[in-house]
Amino acid sequence: MMKNKSSFKAVAAMALLLCSVILSSCKKAEQEKFLIGFSQSTMIDPWRINMLEQMKDAVQKHKDSIDFVFTDGQNDNMKQISDVEDLFSKGIDLLIISPREADPLTPVVERVYNAGVPVITLDRNITSDAYTCFIGASNFKIGEAAGKLMASLFEERGQVIEIEGILGATPTIDRSDGFHSIVDYIPGIQVVEKQPADYLREPALKIMEDFLQSHPQIDGIYGHNDEMALGALTALRAAGREGVVVIGIDGQKEAFESIMAGKMTATFIYPNGSAQAVEAAVKILKGVKVPKKIELESQLVDSSNVKLFYNPNSYF
Ligand code: FRU
Repeated sequence: MMKNKSSFKAVAAMALLLCSVILSSCKKAEQEKFLIGFSQSTMIDPWRINMLEQMKDAVQKHKDSIDFVFTDGQNDNMKQISDVEDLFSKGIDLLIISPREADPLTPVVERVYNAGVPVITLDRNITSDAYTCFIGASNFKIGEAAGKLMASLFEERGQVIEIEGILGATPTIDRSDGFHSIVDYIPGIQVVEKQPADYLREPALKIMEDFLQSHPQIDGIYGHNDEMALGALTALRAAGREGVVVIGIDGQKEAFESIMAGKMTATFIYPNGSAQAVEAAVKILKGVKVPKKIELESQLVDSSNVKLFYNPNSYF
């Protein structure tokens, strides 16, 4: 009896040891996977929904070496700050962030970066250089191109309304600066109103309804994105004010359709950089150096080339 008891003990001890060896080797295997955290600023517009979908697809290609968590900042700086803190305390190996506004998000990104976690800023940037790599198209160049297009279409004459994105977001600043670097020097072009609609369709529609009342003559609208340009188009149509030049940014399916229907003048494809961000993240995590800035190409789309870019099966 005594003997049986002690051999049972020995077997139990062996089993315990075996379990802990298995568990720790599992944990080790788990640790060989990297955890990437993506802090998205909002999911209330189609461009950002598409951005996340494409990022998930890109992560899928590396599913053996990457785990992925994402947070939705709900278009609120404070929420996004606490999202980044949560991601950090989860022990992420790398942060990808599209910061809603630059100033408020900079300190938390700096804390993460200074703690040794690499950071990729995507499409929108922070105000300091406490990040590993920025990926995005040049919003200044897009603004410039929009300004040149506006100038050429008006033969240097016209009253223009600018509908801006979120004021403290870097693309808003650059899209505006680029545009003004051209139109401010064109005699005859007058930017008669400039107002933010936060990259959203409904606020843009409302703003345009007011402007249509107060401005009997409007020749052009420069929307910092397609959602806002499309909102402005709805207001124009409702007021029976057709024939206005409307330019947007993003390259959204509905904008392409409006261009094909002759209602919208042009848009600029604004790539979301999801795939490039995941590829850069994998490199960084493997210890491969990446450039501080990866600039993505944009593309002007108007009635002359829209058919080349339009994909009826795409949801964005
Ligand atoms: C700018 C931007 C826009 C896009 C919007 C969506 O950062 O990427 O081009 O429409 O944000 O939130």
